[in-house]
Amino acid sequence: MIVGGNWKCNLTRAKALELAEQLNELDTTDVEVVVAPVALHVPLVQAKLKRAVSLAAQNCGFAGNGAYTGEVSAEQLVALEVPWVIIGHSERRTHFREDDDLLAAKLDDALKAGLRVIFCVGESHAERAAGQTVEVCVRQLAGVLRLPRFTPARVVLAYEPVWAIGTGLVATPAQAQQTHAALRAHVARERSAEVAARLRIQYGGSVSAANCAELAALPDVDGFLVGGASLRAAEFATIVRSCA
Ligand code: G3H
Repeated sequence: MIVGGNWKCNLTRAKALELAEQLNELDTTDVEVVVAPVALHVPLVQAKLKRAVSLAAQNCGFAGNGAYTGEVSAEQLVALEVPWVIIGHSERRTHFREDDDLLAAKLDDALKAGLRVIFCVGESHAERAAGQTVEVCVRQLAGVLRLPRFTPARVVLAYEPVWAIGTGLVATPAQAQQTHAALRAHVARERSAEVAARLRIQYGGSVSAANCAELAALPDVDGFLVGGASLRAAEFATIVRSCA
């Protein structure tokens, strides 16, 4: 199981360091834990964290170093010994217009540089209402599953229904299990049964101390990508322990 804490564009330097200090108390036995501060805070948090919690960037460029104002490249993250990056978050897709082709290019560049990736997919409320959940996720995965560098050792999928992110509306266990199982079956068809079985699929969207145990018990849920609750050390610890 793998639990990610996506801090998004939150926390000041002091608050990020305080949270990192609290994370050093986490019991990470049997759970892989990764946290993603804003890029500016990554080296500060890195210096504060002990080994039990890994670091992720929340984004990276698509084409290495060069004339890409405002970007941070995958190779720069690797040089800083940041092992993970989140790619394809719905907030990147929506607010920054990142499309499936760009995200596949980012994923390929990140894997080529040696990063491990949490790759996010998920449908909007209207798409779910129209019965298009799996179709949308499959479309978001099309370019990704074609990449020869895509392996379960290097890529974790995060299923994050957009309507559940930051809303308090968590997917029901049935909704989460059904979608995770459908995605795994799709990966089995497109790649192989072995890749699908080894692939870890996180659920993300209003995960909290109150709902994590039920979701963590589902056969195709292999951890969480947590937003708001990852900013609260005690609640994040409860979520991590639900995956142990
Ligand atoms: O990356 C995390 C997700 O967007 C979930 O955020 O837990 O605040 O709903 P949330």
